[in-house]
Amino acid sequence: MSIPSVKLNTGAEIPAVGYGTWQLKPEDAVKQVEYAIKEAGYRHIDCAFGYLNETSVGEGIRNSGVPRSELFITSKVWGTWHRKVEECLDMTLAALGTDYLDLYLMHWPIPLNPNGSHPLIPLRPDGKRDIDDAWDIKDTWKQLEALLKKGKVRAIGVSNFSQKTLEAFLPYVEITPAVDQLELHPYNPDHALVAYLESKGIVLQAYSPLGSTNSPLISDETVAKIAEKYSFTPADVLLGWHVAKGRVVIARSNTPSRIASNIKGAAAAAQALSKEDLATLDGIAAAGKQQRLVTPPWGIDLGFEHWPSQ
Ligand SMILES: NC(=O)c1ccc[n+]([C@@H]2O[C@H](COP(=O)([O-])OP(=O)(O)OC[C@H]3O[C@@H](n4cnc5c(N)ncnc54)[C@H](OP(=O)(O)O)[C@@H]3O)[C@@H](O)[C@H]2O)c1
Repeated sequence: MSIPSVKLNTGAEIPAVGYGTWQLKPEDAVKQVEYAIKEAGYRHIDCAFGYLNETSVGEGIRNSGVPRSELFITSKVWGTWHRKVEECLDMTLAALGTDYLDLYLMHWPIPLNPNGSHPLIPLRPDGKRDIDDAWDIKDTWKQLEALLKKGKVRAIGVSNFSQKTLEAFLPYVEITPAVDQLELHPYNPDHALVAYLESKGIVLQAYSPLGSTNSPLISDETVAKIAEKYSFTPADVLLGWHVAKGRVVIARSNTPSRIASNIKGAAAAAQALSKEDLATLDGIAAAGKQQRLVTPPWGIDLGFEHWPSQ
């Protein structure tokens, strides 16, 4: 099985299909990460400090027996650590049991009060999320740039950055983000943002490509019809759509058979889907299905074309 890779603006190659670790309970993370690497053939693991399972992900990575140099590992700095990015990274490195990351992302363009009511999701007395309004994300980015120069991370990027956020950010950065990790699937294709990122040479990483937990996408009839045509599963089609378009896709499963079929199916569907199939998938949202499926209640408008009012 050959999994395509995508070139980052650093020159490094990132495997186009990654294994996602959000919502994996620690005990599941150990065994599923080991399975994903050792049995299913993933070489790209997507982690985050905020997922609270990096120690278990690290154990799974070590148990796989695959050398660190053959793996592409991403993690993300959480909002309450924007003022102390290196400390957050050091905790991630220790938990994962590695001395460098292949890619380090700013998880959201939202700094959170580091001394608030909760270490991850601090709330104000009115119940709203406690955003650190006095902090500028450009200063968070400067710290990521410094970590890249130090060699502790080999590429840096952003996540959940809209075109509006990027336009206010890019003119002031020294190093252009290598990626933007975004919710992207046929119900939220964000065509304009995709074109903007491509024009800047920023690689798009699609998260929640299957529509996340309890997804309506897996049973979408247009996706099912395309899948039937080739004897693929709907998941194969949803993942292959991204790979065929030269993007990186990150999928999570807690079921070994799906962990294995997702990586194989993504590669096979990317090759098999016709131009017409891709165009059909591109058009599902505009035909009345537009829907974001992961929208934390930040209480602010992040500038995306589609962002539910909060
Ligand atoms: N940067 C960010 O802010 C951000 C946000 C969200 C996610 N992410 C990253 O992206 C990754 C993927 O997104 P996600 O975890 O939200 O969800 P996802 O990968 O879109 O979907 C996961 C769900 O799909 C099910 N599933 C997996 N394979 C399937 C298959 N072949 N057929 C049917 N159902 C299947 C899983 O169920 P089972 O487990 O039962 O198989 C699970 O309920 C995350 O794990 C994380 O690494 C990043």
